[in-house]
Amino acid sequence: MKAGILEAAGGGSPSRDMLRLTVVDIRDETHDVKTFVFRPDGGVPAYIAGQSMTLKLELAGEALFRTFSLASAPDGSDTIAMTIKAHAKGRVTRWLHDRLKAGAQLDAHSPRGRFTIDSRRTDRLALVSAGSGASPLMAMLRHLATTEPGIDIHWLHAARTPRDVLFGRELAALQAKMPRLRVSILVSRPEPGWFGFGGRLGRRLVSVAVPDFARREVFCCGPAGFMDETRLVHAAEGGGRELFHIEHFASGAPPSPPAVPADAPAQGYAVRFGDKQFTAQPGETLLQAATRQTIVIPCGCASGMCGTCRVSLVSGAVDMQHDGGISPEEEAQGYILACSSRPKSDVAIAL
Ligand SMILES: Cc1cc2nc3c(=O)[nH]c(=O)nc-3n(C[C@H](O)[C@H](O)[C@H](O)COP(=O)(O)OP(=O)(O)OC[C@H]3O[C@@H](n4cnc5c(N)ncnc54)[C@H](O)[C@@H]3O)c2cc1C
Ligand code: FES
Repeated sequence: MKAGILEAAGGGSPSRDMLRLTVVDIRDETHDVKTFVFRPDGGVPAYIAGQSMTLKLELAGEALFRTFSLASAPDGSDTIAMTIKAHAKGRVTRWLHDRLKAGAQLDAHSPRGRFTIDSRRTDRLALVSAGSGASPLMAMLRHLATTEPGIDIHWLHAARTPRDVLFGRELAALQAKMPRLRVSILVSRPEPGWFGFGGRLGRRLVSVAVPDFARREVFCCGPAGFMDETRLVHAAEGGGRELFHIEHFASGAPPSPPAVPADAPAQGYAVRFGDKQFTAQPGETLLQAATRQTIVIPCGCASGMCGTCRVSLVSGAVDMQHDGGISPEEEAQGYILACSSRPKSDVAIAL
């Protein structure tokens, strides 16, 4: 966790890069996962395999922001892709699956995120996913298939049933091209005829599937419990903490406010956000305060990791405690993460 008091440097607010995307293809991956292929106006922006983009949608008059990993690799093509699971009651993913058609246009923020293949330190990897968490890992694998096809990789994927397994056919094709790519698939509800692993991820299963797990650098994405368990197994087997990277897909709801800091004024601080004005209660983050007023600040992980909630601090000071979702360069440019910043004075922020 990185912490610090940040004060606005003044001199205006940088605006976030926005892109216009045209849908060029939509293909089924499983019964509830589709891959959406987009062509960005003005060409594909620079990105690193593993990064994500935030889509902005207007649904029923309301602006909604959702972050999705790029499943594509930056390979010189003029398109990018996102592999998205439809949540039964999810507002945006249901709409994307049911209503979005080829030819439609969407707005998005340019790619961001620190869960990238460039952060690896070693040449012996394990890409571990559950469900649609396979998406950023597939971007990394596709990238490595082009740049380092001889690299030593273990792909470990967990799904609910055999029909939920993602990218099966493509993995088989990649194995023909990548001689040291091994693939282990685990389903929690095996069916007759299933020859992969059955059950839940745990130490015994990992030691059979990936015997040298502790000596591998792990990139992991899936539900929080799955990632916790994977991290515990890696650590218990002797894996170093610096060799374990995670991406949180957790969505939107800001966590409840923490205990009130001793130096916070009883009435809170005034926050100006564009033409809106509201008060942050003592101890609240900017995201929590905005959400309480039904003011939308784009949000992904709500825990300082993904960078979706990046805003610029126009004036005032905040205490920011994040988990890698913003770079020192961005901080120097006056950006902060709304989910991880508590006002230390009256503040003005902008997107
Ligand atoms: C960095 C990052 C990368 C991501 N990458 C991907 C990706 O590559 N692919 C992907 O599929 N997702 C990805 N996500 C998750 C994605 O951003 C969305 O959070 C997710 O798809 C759900 O969006 P939604 O609008 O459909 O659901 P929301 O409307 O936000 O609902 C969230 C959850 O609550 C449940 N829910 C909503 N309303 C109700 C209700 N009334 N009763 C019960 N349950 C309810 C929904 O079923 C859903 O599971 C990523 C998230 C982050 C932060
Ligand atoms: S929402 Fe992910 S860093 Fe704030």
